[in-house]
Amino acid sequence: MSRKPLMVGNWKMHANHLETIQMVQKLSYRLDGPDYDRVDLAVAPPFTALRSAQTVIEADQIPIALAAQNVHQEPEGAFTGEISATMLAKLSVSYVIVGHSERRSQFLEDEALINRKAKAVLAAEMTPVICVGETLEQREAGQTDEVLIRQVAGALSGLTPDQVAGLVIAYEPVWAIGTAHSAEPDDVQQRIERCRAVVIDSFADGGEHIRILYGGSVNPGNIGGYMAKRDIDGALVGGASLDPDTFAMIVRYWT
Ligand code: PGA
Repeated sequence: MSRKPLMVGNWKMHANHLETIQMVQKLSYRLDGPDYDRVDLAVAPPFTALRSAQTVIEADQIPIALAAQNVHQEPEGAFTGEISATMLAKLSVSYVIVGHSERRSQFLEDEALINRKAKAVLAAEMTPVICVGETLEQREAGQTDEVLIRQVAGALSGLTPDQVAGLVIAYEPVWAIGTAHSAEPDDVQQRIERCRAVVIDSFADGGEHIRILYGGSVNPGNIGGYMAKRDIDGALVGGASLDPDTFAMIVRYWT
C-alpha cells in the first residue's frame, strides 16, 4: 500500500498574519513542482493568519494546503471565543489538528471531545489530523500501547471505514515534543504499526489507507530516519517548521 507522505507545520501560537505571509512565500520559494509530487505539504498558522495565508496561497498558486490548529465541536452557537469547522472550511482549510497534547493537557480535552471535534471536521469536508501519544510517566509505567489504543479507538469511535481511510493520525509522544529528545525511529515504527493494527481491526481497509505521521522534535537531521520506516507516512513539525529554510529541508527529506 503506497501512501503519499504528508508534512504538516504546526506553528502553534507563533506568527502574526504578516509574518505568516512571509513564511508561506519563503517556504514556497524553496520548493518546486517535483517536491509537491512526492509530498503533500500543509501549514497550520494561528486562526488570525488563516485568511492572509489563504489569500497568498491562492494569488501565487502555491500548492501548500492550509491547516488549522483546533476547532470547536459544534457547528455554531453561543460559544464566545470559539471557531467552527464551517468557518475554517470557508477559508479553504483542508486539515484540522485535533487533540494535540497541548490541548489535552492544558485545555483538558478528552477522548469524547476529540471524537466530536473529528466528526465536526469531517462533516465540514476537511481532514482531521488526530494527535495521540503517551506522557513520559505513562511510558515509564509500560502503558504506551494501552494509551495509544485507547486514544486511537476513542478518537475514531462511530466513524465509517470510508471516513477513517481519509484521515490522518499523528503519533506524538508527549515527552518528545519541543524537547530535542526525539523518539527512536524503530520505536516509532513499532508504535505506529500498533496504531495501524487497531484501525485495521475496527475499520479493515481504512487502516491501510490512513496516513500516520510522527511528531516530536523532528529536524532536518532526523527526518530521513523516520521516513525510511514502512509505517511512518510523514511528520507533524512544530519548532523546526517556523524557519522556512529548515522546514523546506525536512519536506525534502530525501535530499
Ligand atoms: P516539535 O512540536 O516539533 O516542536 O517537537 C511538534 C508538535 O507539537 O506538533
